[in-house]
Amino acid sequence: MDKEVQKIDLSPNLIWKANYGKDVSKLQERASTFLSKITDHGEVEREGGITSTGHTDAPHLWPEMIEFCNDIEPLVKKVLDAWELNYNWFGITKSWVNKHNVYQWTDTHDHGDAHMVLSFYLKQPQKGGNLEFTNINKHLWGSYPRHPHGKTKLHEYYTEVEAKQGDIIFFPGWLSHRSQPNQSNQERIVMGLNIHAELQRPEQLSNEHIEKNI
Ligand SMILES: [Fe+2]
Repeated sequence: MDKEVQKIDLSPNLIWKANYGKDVSKLQERASTFLSKITDHGEVEREGGITSTGHTDAPHLWPEMIEFCNDIEPLVKKVLDAWELNYNWFGITKSWVNKHNVYQWTDTHDHGDAHMVLSFYLKQPQKGGNLEFTNINKHLWGSYPRHPHGKTKLHEYYTEVEAKQGDIIFFPGWLSHRSQPNQSNQERIVMGLNIHAELQRPEQLSNEHIEKNI
C-alpha cells in the first residue's frame, strides 16, 4: 500500500499572486494626481473611499503603463493557461484606481463579465489592509468539525490574502471580494484591471469546411 496520498485538484487554483518589483513612483504620481480630481465613491466604496471606475481616463491606456502591461502579459497567460481556457486573444477591457485613506475600504463585490481581475497594489503602506475573498464552499462544509485556525478559514465568510506594496493579485471576475480597511495614516492606491479572453476564429467566408466536394 502507498504510504502517501496524492492531491487531486477538482478545479484550477483560483487566486494567484506576483510582486511587481519595479519602480512605480511615476505611476503612483499619475494615479495620485488623477485621483485628486475624482469625487466619486462608486457603489461599494465605504467611509469615503474614492474610485475612478467608469471614468473615461482608463489607467491601462496611460503611457506610464506600457511597461507594466508588457511585463504582466506572460503572467496573465500563465494563469489563463492554468485555468485551462481555450483562447487565442486576451486584453484589458477596463481599468481604474481606488484610493483609501485611514479606515476607508471597498465593500464586497464582483466584476461581472470580466474573466480575470488584477488588483495591483500601486501604493500600499504598512497596515494598509489586505484583500478578502468570499469562501464559496463555506456552506458545504457547515456540518464538518472545521479547525478554527485553518488556512482556508472555512469557519469564516472570507479568506484573507496578504497584499504588500507592488503585489498583483489575479482572480476570476466572479469571485466576490472586499478590501480590509486601511489601518494606516497613509493612502492606499489600488489599480484594478479587468481582462477578457476569447477564442477568435477566422471569418467564415465559405462553406468549404462543412460541404462535401463530390
Ligand atoms: Fe474588485
